[in-house]
Amino acid sequence: MPIKFINVSHIYSPKTPMRFDALKNINLDLDEKKFTALVGKTGSGKSTLINHINGLLHPTEGKVLAFDYVNSSNKKERTKNVKDLRKRIGLVFQFPEYQLFEETVEKDVAFGPRNFGIPQEEAIKQAHEALLQIGLDESFFTRSPFDLSGGEKRKVAIAGILAIHPDVLILDEPTAGLDPKAAEDTMELFKEINKSGVGIIFVTHDMNLVLEYAEEVVVMDEGEVAKQCSPEELFGEDLSKYSLQNPDIYRFALMMKEKGIDLKLDGLNDVNSLAKAIKESKK
Ligand SMILES: Nc1ncnc2c1ncn2[C@@H]1O[C@H](COP(=O)(O)OP(=O)(O)O)[C@@H](O)[C@H]1O
Ligand SMILES: [Mg+2]
Repeated sequence: MPIKFINVSHIYSPKTPMRFDALKNINLDLDEKKFTALVGKTGSGKSTLINHINGLLHPTEGKVLAFDYVNSSNKKERTKNVKDLRKRIGLVFQFPEYQLFEETVEKDVAFGPRNFGIPQEEAIKQAHEALLQIGLDESFFTRSPFDLSGGEKRKVAIAGILAIHPDVLILDEPTAGLDPKAAEDTMELFKEINKSGVGIIFVTHDMNLVLEYAEEVVVMDEGEVAKQCSPEELFGEDLSKYSLQNPDIYRFALMMKEKGIDLKLDGLNDVNSLAKAIKESKK
């Protein structure tokens, strides 16, 4: 378990009237190889949590272990070189396209590797690989990032992190604001990246994506981890206490149950399994 939260609390603006307890005594193990979804209502502490994994925020109490890096509330315990950690754990912020700034796409993507000491020529090569991987062909390399569509800009920003070759990729609401097709394409890409051995941790409000892609889901609620389980274990119950909605398939099945059709919800994960459950209910 290379990512471990031990009794982690985070307080914003402590000792002021604005004090806010954003994380409350979190104990959490995240598998560095898995495809993990992080869900919970707005303000539940998701972004605060992930910002602790790559050392952007320090715990007020407790510590986070990520590979061999220690991010502790105690300064003396903290690993000095945060750069090594940020090379292994790539974090893509929400709306990363706002951070594009170079005059060409390839230079923007190469910025990451350059920052980690890779010489210009090699960094551009890595940038090209990352762009091709994310589905932007050569015709994009020398364009200005500012002339691209929203979805394309998002891809350039994600390529900027991929070019660093992280072991774990953390994405804060990567599909927010994308149309459904672009969201699916983006998730398919992450699935491919995950298959190649890179762990994915993604924040989302879309439970359909959680059901389709995540192996594990962590539910945050008011600064605490309310649940950590497989999507199938989470869905099918009333999730309104977490301000979450079930995926469409579960909502449909639950409505049919209300109408008196006795459907088994166990293992429901796509249209095929729903069709099977409907057939079996008729027997
Ligand atoms: N820099 C900050 N200063 C003070 N409060 C903050 C800051 N950042 C976030 N918060 C508060 O902490 C809580 C958790 O925020 P956040 O981790 O961004 O939640 P989420 O990502 O789940 O929406 C929210 O109530 C938010 O208002
Ligand atoms: Mg957030």
